[in-house]
Amino acid sequence: MIPLIIDTDPGVDDAMALMLACASPEVDLLAVTTVFGNVPLPGTTANAGRILTLAGRPEIPVAPGAARPLVHVQAERAEEWHGDDGLGGRAAGLPPGPAPDPRGALGTQVEVLREASEPVTIATIGPLTNIALLLATHPELAPRIGRIVWMGGSLSGGNVTGAAEFNAHCDPEAAHRVLTQADVPVTMVPLDLTHQCPVGPAWLHALAAAGPRCAELGTVITHYRTAYRARYGVDAVAVHDAVAVLEAVLPGTLRTTPHPLQVACDLGPARGATVPGGPGPAVAVALDADTEAVLAAILERLSTLG
Ligand code: BDR
Ligand code: CA
Repeated sequence: MIPLIIDTDPGVDDAMALMLACASPEVDLLAVTTVFGNVPLPGTTANAGRILTLAGRPEIPVAPGAARPLVHVQAERAEEWHGDDGLGGRAAGLPPGPAPDPRGALGTQVEVLREASEPVTIATIGPLTNIALLLATHPELAPRIGRIVWMGGSLSGGNVTGAAEFNAHCDPEAAHRVLTQADVPVTMVPLDLTHQCPVGPAWLHALAAAGPRCAELGTVITHYRTAYRARYGVDAVAVHDAVAVLEAVLPGTLRTTPHPLQVACDLGPARGATVPGGPGPAVAVALDADTEAVLAAILERLSTLG
């Protein structure tokens, strides 16, 4: 089994991604660490606990990390998509999770990495602040990280500004730190791919029919679905974070192209853009996949939760 840490800011698609990891026998989900992002940190932390409880895995530690970006304040959150509570208005209706792990995100990641007998995958599906801090403060642990799989970035324009994807835009300095280091291989799952494979009504209907846990996830998705229709004029939902977690649990599912990348860290309109080029190591950028198979695999796995 692949030992796995998920770093996340739930978030509706984060919720789906967490449930997907819980439904994937190839991985041992050792810890979930949380970061500010879609909503403030207390909400993302509580939501991660709620979703793990919904998935039947309340014993997995949930450890809170960064409440803000490294350098500049967060420019924009994403309540428009995820609701004020981060779970489409459904958070209060879900069973609460256990108390947050007092070790915090960094302490938890360090302990998990030190104790792991084989390299750990870190799937990171929010701003990269916690991961930048881990790499900066514990370089000796880099060999214990097998790979970092990040949902974020874009080579073809953003979703929060014309240039920048949300997770990159939340903390461009952290993203630059992680994407330009050479110690741990990074796979980036950008909007270029996740926008190619939104799920439609039939997929969402099948999810809701799979059992009570999936039906609850379906109600969490409703607000996001309405927002997606308002923005793009289609009845569908992008499942960004779940695509990245599928790659983490089934390495090689997505087809990647190597690109050295830099992140625009100036305060102008390009801020947060992930730009090919620069002296750094190649990031494996997932630009292509059998998208039907990807969505079928996500649905099939979620359905096993009932
Ligand atoms: C990313 O931004 C967040 O709103 C989603 O959870 C996802 O991680 C997509 O740009
Ligand atoms: Ca996210």
